[in-house]
Amino acid sequence: MALLGHHGGTMENKKIINHYLSYLSNYKGSIALLLFLSLASAGTAIPIPAIYAHLVDKVIPNKDIETLFVMAGLLLALLALNAIISYVLTLVGSLVRKKFRSQMRSISYSKLQRLPYEQLSHFVSGDLVSRLTRDLDSLGVLLPKGIAEFIKNILIIIGIVSIMLHMSWKLTLISGIMIPLFFLFFLCMMKTLEERAKKNHETKGKLQASLQEKIEGNRDIQLTNSYEHQHQSATKIIQESESVLTHLNFHEAKMGLVFSLFPILGSGLLWGLGGYWSITNVLTLGEVIAFSYAFNYLFDPISSVFSTISEVPIELTALQRIFELFPENQQTKILPNGNKEAFIRGKIDFKKVSFGYENSPLLLQNLNFSIKPGTVTCIVGENGIGKSTLFSLLLYLYQVNQGQILIDGHPVQSYSEATLRKNISLVPQQAFLFQGSIKDNIIMGRKVSEQDFNNACELSGVFNLVKKFDKGVESLVTEKGNNLSGGEKQKIAIARALVENPSVLLLDEPTNNLDEAIKASIQQSLLLAKAGKTIILITHDLSFIEGITEIYEIKDKKIIKKEHQHA
Ligand SMILES: Nc1ncnc2c1ncn2[C@@H]1O[C@H](COP(=O)(O)OP(=O)(O)O)[C@@H](O)[C@H]1O
Ligand SMILES: [Mg+2]
Repeated sequence: MALLGHHGGTMENKKIINHYLSYLSNYKGSIALLLFLSLASAGTAIPIPAIYAHLVDKVIPNKDIETLFVMAGLLLALLALNAIISYVLTLVGSLVRKKFRSQMRSISYSKLQRLPYEQLSHFVSGDLVSRLTRDLDSLGVLLPKGIAEFIKNILIIIGIVSIMLHMSWKLTLISGIMIPLFFLFFLCMMKTLEERAKKNHETKGKLQASLQEKIEGNRDIQLTNSYEHQHQSATKIIQESESVLTHLNFHEAKMGLVFSLFPILGSGLLWGLGGYWSITNVLTLGEVIAFSYAFNYLFDPISSVFSTISEVPIELTALQRIFELFPENQQTKILPNGNKEAFIRGKIDFKKVSFGYENSPLLLQNLNFSIKPGTVTCIVGENGIGKSTLFSLLLYLYQVNQGQILIDGHPVQSYSEATLRKNISLVPQQAFLFQGSIKDNIIMGRKVSEQDFNNACELSGVFNLVKKFDKGVESLVTEKGNNLSGGEKQKIAIARALVENPSVLLLDEPTNNLDEAIKASIQQSLLLAKAGKTIILITHDLSFIEGITEIYEIKDKKIIKKEHQHA
């Protein structure tokens, strides 16, 4: 539909629709059932005006009581049947749509999870939530749900218009004269509707993103006494979103008004001319009554068809925002070619590696260095020099611009994600803790033996830390681990990294901001854990770990080996 074209135009919409249809293949049966119900519903509705005409013109004037009862019974049966079928149609349609939507949501979330980190970081989390909730709510209006209703209404329109044409083609044409005009007008209004719908979805996403951020950062708002400032900025976005919605609603109301003008004008013409033709014996009174009934009966299906059509751009906008996250045919695996399953010993080689973030200058240039298995390597360097980035590259969260990273002699991207994540573990600067028990946060749903779990808790000092809780490792972590101190969170993060017994352990400033006692206890953990592992540690504190094999410093985009006394 050209009228739905926006900046990408029809091509883009075509792609979106095809992508969407690919998710509907499981719903062929349901759609067939809905179509069958729609046929039955149309079949029971269309004969009704003809029965009215017959009753008024033949049966009643002829005082044919027997036929009258039969016809009245038939009328009753058809009306009742139509009501029941329509009810079932609406019910089944809603159920199918609900099921489809929840499946789409679940698929979308699963695709979003696997989006390469680099792509995911282009989006704001609140906006992503809004896409998966609000935007996804608009899905399924036409397919799978509305299509049956749509076809039913089209059939009813065709059926009733045929009957009207049969009774009087002149009256049909005259009373329907404004339909083409009405349709043209509608098309013009659709363009604006689409634009406003799109704006509405976007501002709702922005609103959610902004409120979410402000609520998450509320502690800092309180600490800086910046309520007024944040409130003003929130109010601005709230008002903007409200005004966009008002514009949309105003436009929808305008379209509604056009709908309501249609039967008013039609009825005037119909009764004026129809009445005149009845007086001059061109039409029978029964025909005029049946005609009027049919004409009024048309209004519902017509307005329903138009309102379904006007929902389509809203749905397309939502689809556009959802599929923006994972366009069709887009590789959503982080390691698309990785299939190597192997035990990783931990030999790591950076060969002429260069990297810069998107739209930023080169951060690391021509890095060449090697790490032997079973050694402890420290990386030092100023803040913001690219130390954490080095880990991200090694974990394939970002891809190098040039050069290669080899693990046990094979390119990092040749390993399967499972192998890479199992064998190389990161303790990040700030681990994310989920709501759930401490144990859940350590195991993270992975298959882990009781012994490995206990081992990780012992080494990381988690067993020591949970002594103060009644429920031990089953104690609950609140949102983002707010009920735990920095050091406690760090120990849980270390246990999480150790629990699968990785051969390479990456630690990103694990003791930053921690006091001496916790530092000592984490140091102790690492000493115990390091046997047989390759450890790479980003730190400012070289006294932290014993037995350092090499120290590298990142400086001016390069990496250089530093002389030090081997322990
Ligand atoms: N996702 C990102 N997108 C763009 N720039 C980034 C991203 N992550 C980090 N940077 C930038 O890259 C530089 C190096 O960051 P990082 O590796 O975290 O430094 P370090 O760990 O040495 O303190 C910083 O200037 C930082 O702002
Ligand atoms: Mg860092």
